Amino acid sequence: MIPQTTGETFAEKVLAWFGQHGRKDLPWQHAPTPYRVWVSEIMLQQTQVTTVIPYYQRFMQRFPAVRTLADAPLDDILQHWEGLGYYSRARNLHKAAQIIRDQHDGQFPTDMTGMEALPGIGRSTAGAILSLSHDQAHAILDGNVKRVLSRYHAVAGWPGEPRILQQLWQYAEQHLPATRNADYTQAMMDMGATLCTRSKPACLLCPLQTGCKAFQQGKPQDYPGKRPKKDLPEKTAIALLLRNPDGEILLQKRPPSGIWGGLWSFPEFAGEPGMADWLQQTCGQNHIISQRLPTLTHTFSHYRLHLQPLQVDFDTQAARIMEGDGWLWYKAGTKLNGGLSAAVRQFFRNT
Ligand code: ADE
Ligand code: SF4
Repeated sequence: MIPQTTGETFAEKVLAWFGQHGRKDLPWQHAPTPYRVWVSEIMLQQTQVTTVIPYYQRFMQRFPAVRTLADAPLDDILQHWEGLGYYSRARNLHKAAQIIRDQHDGQFPTDMTGMEALPGIGRSTAGAILSLSHDQAHAILDGNVKRVLSRYHAVAGWPGEPRILQQLWQYAEQHLPATRNADYTQAMMDMGATLCTRSKPACLLCPLQTGCKAFQQGKPQDYPGKRPKKDLPEKTAIALLLRNPDGEILLQKRPPSGIWGGLWSFPEFAGEPGMADWLQQTCGQNHIISQRLPTLTHTFSHYRLHLQPLQVDFDTQAARIMEGDGWLWYKAGTKLNGGLSAAVRQFFRNT
């Protein structure tokens, strides 16, 4: 551990910041009963605070208590959700309210196990409800808190990975204060939402700056780690490097649409027999492959292409046949009309 220069703990710094800058006037912060906090947390799961506020107020007016919600027709609830999206959230609210009415005598569970058993309530939401409404000492780990903690501790991996998530939960638990857990929970959400933002963290105003590893590295935006790229399908093809006696290489203009549309590229073939046939027909002569060159790889958005360049040298005038529209004998480094495909540019960069 790096010694804290100020002698204050992580939580003390966060709580001091909260006193000055935290949000204390949001509708669900007034009379924060489990019911009121629960509804707000569910609404805030996928929707921003400013959008949520009017919905929250209408919802609370129509469904002031968990029993009102349980007794209401689902359609009525869905109607109050109209425009918030992710309607499974509203259906789960209704189901959970009925479970609380029927199995818990209308009272919210007061422990994590009971809370997490309700539909739509995961570990972080359960922790938030118990913390904000009962000041119980539970950690939360929503998107905002993941960002703050992964930066503070320079946790490089993607939080969707169980091992990384577990590491972040461990840090979240480790920093919990002995008292004022509700304020601390709200403060962590607020810091993530207003200070340690995704693209422009305000590190100079941040109370955690002295201990923050990502800040020390000068690259907070590198955290949290991104979801690994999906494996793309791989395709292979042959690129013909047909060379004439002047050392020029034959390029073909690609069709206007599709990959490298309208750009000059090497003639491509699915396999060697196809290439041999084409050479025989077009140039009327047999050919000798003079070199197999290193593979050129290019990644498109939806697949990865491996091109095997085969160099074929012509020593006769036969190659002149291929002059004309859509064909070009290209000398490396000379100016040409139009663009070159990435494969050609890569090839000439390497040679
Ligand atoms: N996002 C999730 N919960 C929140 C809360 N209690 N206040 C502000 N933003 C939140
Ligand atoms: Fe986030 Fe910057 Fe604060 Fe670190 S110093 S927690 S990166 S705002």
